[in-house]
Amino acid sequence: VKCRPQVWAQCWEGAGACLCAWRACLGLAAAMPIMLVLWVLVLQKLKREMEALRSSSRGLLQSYREEYRDCLSEIVQAVQTAQLHCEALLACSAEAGRLEQSLRDVTERWQRELRERRRLQDALVELKGNIRVHCRIRPLLPFDDEAQEPVSPDSSVSGGVVHAVDDETVLVECNRPGHALINKTYTFERVYGPAESQRAVFEDVCPLLTSFLDGYNVCIMAYGQTGSGKSFTMLGPRCQEEPALPSEPRGDTGIIPRAAAELFRLISEDPSRSPEVGVSVVEIYNNDIFDLLANDGCRAASGAKRQVLPTQQGKTVVCGSVRSAAQFLMLVGRGLKLRAKQPTSVHAESSRSHLVITVTLATATSPPWSDRSASAEPCQPGPRSPATGRRQSPPVPLRTRGHGLGRAAQDRLGQVRATLQLVDLAGSECAGVSGVTGPALRETSCINRSLAALSDVLGALAEGRGHIPYRNSRLTHLLQDALGGDAKLQVIVCVSPGQRHVVETLQSLGFGARARQVERGHPAPRKLR
Ligand SMILES: Nc1ncnc2c1ncn2[C@@H]1O[C@H](COP(=O)(O)OP(=O)(O)O)[C@@H](O)[C@H]1O
Ligand SMILES: [Mg+2]
Repeated sequence: VKCRPQVWAQCWEGAGACLCAWRACLGLAAAMPIMLVLWVLVLQKLKREMEALRSSSRGLLQSYREEYRDCLSEIVQAVQTAQLHCEALLACSAEAGRLEQSLRDVTERWQRELRERRRLQDALVELKGNIRVHCRIRPLLPFDDEAQEPVSPDSSVSGGVVHAVDDETVLVECNRPGHALINKTYTFERVYGPAESQRAVFEDVCPLLTSFLDGYNVCIMAYGQTGSGKSFTMLGPRCQEEPALPSEPRGDTGIIPRAAAELFRLISEDPSRSPEVGVSVVEIYNNDIFDLLANDGCRAASGAKRQVLPTQQGKTVVCGSVRSAAQFLMLVGRGLKLRAKQPTSVHAESSRSHLVITVTLATATSPPWSDRSASAEPCQPGPRSPATGRRQSPPVPLRTRGHGLGRAAQDRLGQVRATLQLVDLAGSECAGVSGVTGPALRETSCINRSLAALSDVLGALAEGRGHIPYRNSRLTHLLQDALGGDAKLQVIVCVSPGQRHVVETLQSLGFGARARQVERGHPAPRKLR
């Protein structure tokens, strides 16, 4: 009874809540149909979208399949084409290989033919006793001062007016304003373009060394204008600076050091021969012969040359005995230090004398030559040469034929088998162009006179005249055996490619052409042991 009012309040509250819930249920019941309609609409929309999605995915799948099929067929087609190409490529590369092989064969055959032709030509030259003439065109160099395009080092084109058309023909093509057009070709046994190496030049003269060892007299001579590359060809670059030339041939080593190495290599191959090798080095300066190996007095004053004068008894010069290429080159280097040179406007290191290095082979039965070597024969110093200020030693006998050993030495030491003369001529030049005056002018005129005498001798030999003017100059006198005798003579005509020197170049080429016309009879080997 006590809690009756509370119960009544709770019941009243519960009835109120029930009423509210009843009202809410009524509201919900009223909203339900509307929501149902909405849901149906949404559901329908979703269905439609779903259908559209399904049909578009079907379309996509279809187009994907079609594209896939197309791509696949394209890929198959491409693979087939690639296979075809690959087969064609293989066929092409096989064909290229076959062509390459046949090119190699043809090149080899051509080179064999070329060698054979050269051999036959060489044999013909030898049978006719002709002088072999090679021509070397040096590259254009900075001091040529010619406005030309730079020339590729492996090009056969010189960049100047002188070109090696092939390895036997030189073309001089020059069109100077105010001068007649020059278009001349010359043929030689061999023509070296500006890119040809020292080795290539040496390889062609190398067989002459075998001939020398077989007992033939041989002479290798470089001819040409000042600055045309004679000393470069014979000795190599910087030959004036180095007292001893390198005994191991480098790329730019010249003929003389290479010949020394080759000679001693050939000698070492056949120890049974073991010949004695003698070397003399002389220069012809202002038409006088100077012995560059002779010691002055008691060897005190280096730098003196002994003048060699002709006498009735014959001639002799100091001939050092050598046993190796290094000794040979040491002697040559010693001689070169004394060689006359003078800068001209054409060439800063112009040699003013003809250099003649003579190598003599003698039998091994003779006593050693060292008895007569340069150091073993002291001589009294002679007067100073008035023209040059050089000290001259007293005259020593000058043998008129043969060179290197005196006759007495020849008898005492046994039989002289053969001589090899290596000649680096002084350069022909026009005094006006070289810009020399005073004593240098006299040198130039002596050089030009001796070279003219050389040309006259060759002219007389070519025409088969009865009298050959060897005695017109010391140069031709000294080289008499090589020019008109039985020596195998190889002339290397060196030419500058520049337009500035075209007149001298034509003169040098004319000299070479004249030398080729000489017929002297078959060269004979010296009597062998
Ligand atoms: N074939 C060549 N290749 C590169 N340089 C050369 C060649 N021939 C000559 N020379 C350079 O030309 C210059 C003149 O050559 P050099 O042999 O002294 O002339 P020459 O003895 O005829 O007066 C030298 O500096 C030499 O090194
Ligand atoms: Mg020179």
